[in-house]
Amino acid sequence: MKITKAVIPAAGFGTRFLPATKAVPKEMLPIIDKPTIQYIAEEAIRAGITDMLIITSRGKDAIVNHFDRAFELETILERDNKHELLDAVREVSSRLDVHFIRQQEQKGLGHAVLYAKSFIGNEPFAVMLGDDVVDSEEPCIGQLMRQFEKCESTVLGVQRVGMEHVSKYGIVGCEDMGEGLYKVNTMVEKPKPTDAPSDIAVLGRYILTPGIFGCLEKTPKGAGGEIQLTDGIVMLGETEDIYAYNFEGRRYDIGNKQGFLQATVDFALKRPDLRDEFADYIIKIADSLR
Ligand code: UTP
Repeated sequence: MKITKAVIPAAGFGTRFLPATKAVPKEMLPIIDKPTIQYIAEEAIRAGITDMLIITSRGKDAIVNHFDRAFELETILERDNKHELLDAVREVSSRLDVHFIRQQEQKGLGHAVLYAKSFIGNEPFAVMLGDDVVDSEEPCIGQLMRQFEKCESTVLGVQRVGMEHVSKYGIVGCEDMGEGLYKVNTMVEKPKPTDAPSDIAVLGRYILTPGIFGCLEKTPKGAGGEIQLTDGIVMLGETEDIYAYNFEGRRYDIGNKQGFLQATVDFALKRPDLRDEFADYIIKIADSLR
């Protein structure tokens, strides 16, 4: 079955980026000149997603405005023959149907995904978290969709993170099936290194079957008093096979400040209009630090 719908949970408080996120949604903070959520939308478009549901919350209307048409602005850019900028502001809204729903209370990622139940219906779907931006040739979610076509069951995007970092992630215990695919036996949310079944971490990209909704409805509050998507997936694993795929690509954890800075520098160095001058500047700074 072809996957055409993606869910983007974006209702969290973004406490790690306060005070910036007091009035501006974390998902609207730009990497150079593009809000982080637009990188996610572009990845979805490249993978063939046609409908996207963004789960927002109070105070996040800037996300809704970003994906809306801006007629006054577009008219002025058209009048002034600024076609490149016009394409930049129109790009996503013309290629993707974007829908919104508000999570009334931030009760966790699993609770946020449950809001997508009637939008998704009875089909498999993608979940993409804005905290993880992946720079890859084949879009990360597209890689998981390709694995889904083979196994027709839930597929989690994973990479090894090193044992010293396991306590920040959902960690899987799994069997290696070859060619980057694993069969998942266990999954633990943010374990201590001594309790972790491996250092293979789930990193913000999922293909889920609709069975997840029944499980999330029954999932009690878990770590941090929140309804955890991980716990819902563990329950789903009691009746369906769960797979994990070691996706190709450089992944940036932009929910944390170091990751955000690294993404900004690396993306700037890849931009032909910025690269040369910015590289000179970085070399000068690096020299002064020696
Ligand atoms: P995080 O745990 O990273 O929370 O959520 P956060 O609020 O975004 O950021 P910090 O940690 O306070 O800085 C992981 C993902 O789940 C979404 C978030 O928007 C983020 O994409 N989420 C979390 C929800 O949509 N609703 C929730 O109730 C909780």
